Amino acid sequence: MKVIKNALQMQKIALKHIKNGDEIGLIPTMGALHDGHVSLIVKSEKNDDITIVSIFVNPTQFGPNEDYLKYPRTVQKDLEICRKNHVNYVFMPSVNDMFPVDYKTFVEVKALQDILCGKFRINHFRGVATVVTKLFNISCADRGYFGMKDFQQLKIIEKMIRDLNFRTKIVPCPIVREKSGLAISSRNSYLSVEEKKASLNISRILREASESFRDKNLNFVRKNAINKLKRIRGSRVDYAEVVNFIDLSPADKDTKKAVFAVAVWIGKTRLIDNVIMTK
Ligand code: PAF
Repeated sequence: MKVIKNALQMQKIALKHIKNGDEIGLIPTMGALHDGHVSLIVKSEKNDDITIVSIFVNPTQFGPNEDYLKYPRTVQKDLEICRKNHVNYVFMPSVNDMFPVDYKTFVEVKALQDILCGKFRINHFRGVATVVTKLFNISCADRGYFGMKDFQQLKIIEKMIRDLNFRTKIVPCPIVREKSGLAISSRNSYLSVEEKKASLNISRILREASESFRDKNLNFVRKNAINKLKRIRGSRVDYAEVVNFIDLSPADKDTKKAVFAVAVWIGKTRLIDNVIMTK
């Protein structure tokens, strides 16, 4: 496994592999790797000749009052996980290499970036779309792997790929959960024991909502879930929305496949989760 810290060098290596006929898979991450990331790595190893994991805590996707500085950074452990899982390259650029002081270019996916999490995290998805564009260009990826926990992120990247004619194919991967049901996330490490206990209710409430989606009125399902989410100890609900699986438009009574997406604060930690609901 090679650790590459420079964008130009990473791109040169990737281009060499493409010339040799290798197919490249990229798993873009911000580090603090967990079993969710490992599931993406394992999938890439099945599909691709070369697996690249990028580790970059991207400052452009954090708002001024968000957790950029305190975002968990566990580089040694991350490298160990990558090594154990036969990753070929870990790309770990500096902020200055990715976003030098004279940086000017940003990618926006209009409308999709302004709903759900975008209402609460201004410029977040602009930062995500921009860094993913750069990472795809640097890694020359044939495939990019994204977890479905960040469902809106996945949809935004898929739209960007279509709109801008990227050659990279997006591979969506199912949410990995703890036995308790809690969706695995790097931010779970912020939770105290009590908060973690409280947060387990989120996936349970979503599961119950999905079970009632088939025969209950959509508004009832949503309101019922919101009431339960609000009753979780120490919680504050940013949003709880049922949207169309395909394009994130609001679901209605004719929607056959929907996603119930939520963002809930437990104390000072903002957790997102979702469940796919079918009729
Ligand atoms: O999902 C993430 O960890 C980040 O948003 C990503 C895709 C690595 C971009 O920084």
